[in-house]
Order: sequence, then structure tokens, then C-alpha cells
Amino acid sequence: MKSSFKTQVFQDAYTTADRLAMDFIRYAEQTMEFREKLYIALSGGSTPQTMFSILAKEYARSLPWEKLHFFWVDERCVPAESPESNFGNADRLLFSKISIPKENIHPILGKDDPLCEVVRYTGEILAHVPCVNKFPVFDLIILGMGNDGHTASIFPGQMDLFETNALCSVNEHPETRQKRITLTGKVINNASNVIFLVTGDAKADKVSSIFNNDHLALNYPAHKVKPVNGNLSWYMDSEAAKQLKMEN
Ligand code: 6PG
Repeated sequence: MKSSFKTQVFQDAYTTADRLAMDFIRYAEQTMEFREKLYIALSGGSTPQTMFSILAKEYARSLPWEKLHFFWVDERCVPAESPESNFGNADRLLFSKISIPKENIHPILGKDDPLCEVVRYTGEILAHVPCVNKFPVFDLIILGMGNDGHTASIFPGQMDLFETNALCSVNEHPETRQKRITLTGKVINNASNVIFLVTGDAKADKVSSIFNNDHLALNYPAHKVKPVNGNLSWYMDSEAAKQLKMEN
């Protein structure tokens, strides 16, 4: 499969989320012409919440949602009811508003013992997502990027999580020490399509470092996302992309 790299910059965060929602629906419609099921992994944080709301509001009846399986890129080790929960927020904003079978939603159970949950979630992935070279191939992984250049719950200085053969790992947020569970780098880079959804002025420095491939970018996990056989796209607003020389 020929890999592609695409960058799109939009005027503001809402427009960026709106375009990604539309492109996600188009991708799913096109792919399901020749596929029975699609395997998607979602990130958390605040950025994707607008996209979730748009999908629920504008596209609730646009897809046979029963053909899509949703996993999470990472999760905070908190109960689903917590406002910190990536699954909890996606469920509140999207899944509770569309008709999708419960068995198609595969959350990381943040309330459970992290080490046990890593084993369970690994098994859940392997039980559903087709594998190539022993690694699951998600059809689409949507990533965010932290202000420090982290992605998933892989933080600067933790590049070993791009070398491990484990599918997911327990980790800690370097400042809050909050326990996290995250997909590892090899799973992310094994996906058919990886999309970064990055908005806001606070991300502009890291975006510039990564796109200029400068020496600082070597510390940023987002810079290590290079799908082996898949496509990589960046959806950004003008704030996040303001140090780049491009217009959409
Ligand atoms: C998480 C995410 C994380 C997120 C970035 C960006 O659990 O926080 O999965 O990787 O994508 O931290 O977060 P914001 O969208 O809130 O800036």
C-alpha cells in the first residue's frame, strides 16, 4: 500500500473538527463498500470533543454504525464517570447519541487495576482487529498532540514505547503522575491511516519542530508517528500551523 502524507490547515478549530468529521464519514462510506467492518481508535483530551459533537449532530444517521468498532488510543486510569475519562467524554458526546451496538465499543476500563487492564485490553484488540506481522492493523487511528509534543499517552523521554512489542502499556503522566494506559508506537505505526487533529496556538512550536524535522523534534513522541504502510494526515487550524509556510 503506498503511504501518503497530507497536511490541511483550516481557519479555526471548529472548521478543522467539522472537516475531519465530514472526511471521516466519507472515508467510512467508501471503505465499507468493500469491507464488512472498520476498526477505529480514538484519542481523548479536549480537541476531539468538538468533532464528536459534530458527528452526533450532523451524521448520526449517515453510517451503518454497526459496522464500525471503536477502540481507544489511550485512557486515564479513572472511572468512566470522571470528566477526565476519554471513553466517558466520547460516550457522552457521541456514542450515547447514535445507534451503535454496545459490543462495538471497546473502552479501556480506567477503573480497573492498570496491569490487569493492559492484559485484558490487549486480548480485546487481538480478538477483534485483524493482524499483519503479529500487530493489529487499525483502519484509522485519530491522534492528538499535547503541548509538550506527546501523543497517545506516550510522553517525551519515553521513546521505548515505540520500540516495545507490547500492544499497550501502563504509563504515568510526567507531571500529574496520573496513571494512563496507552497503545504503543508500533501499533500506532501499523495502522492503515493515522490522523493528527491538532489545534491551538500552544501547539505551534511543536508542530513547527516536527514539520521542520529539527533536533528538538527528536524528543517529541508525535514526531515518531510514521505509519509503516499507512497514510498520515494532519488536520490543523491556522493557530497550530502558524509557524508553517502553508495555506489550505
Ligand atoms: C489524552 C489524549 C492525548 C491528547 C493530547 C492532546 O488522553 O489526553 O489521548 O494524547 O490527544 O494530550 O490533548 P488536548 O486535545 O486536550 O490538547
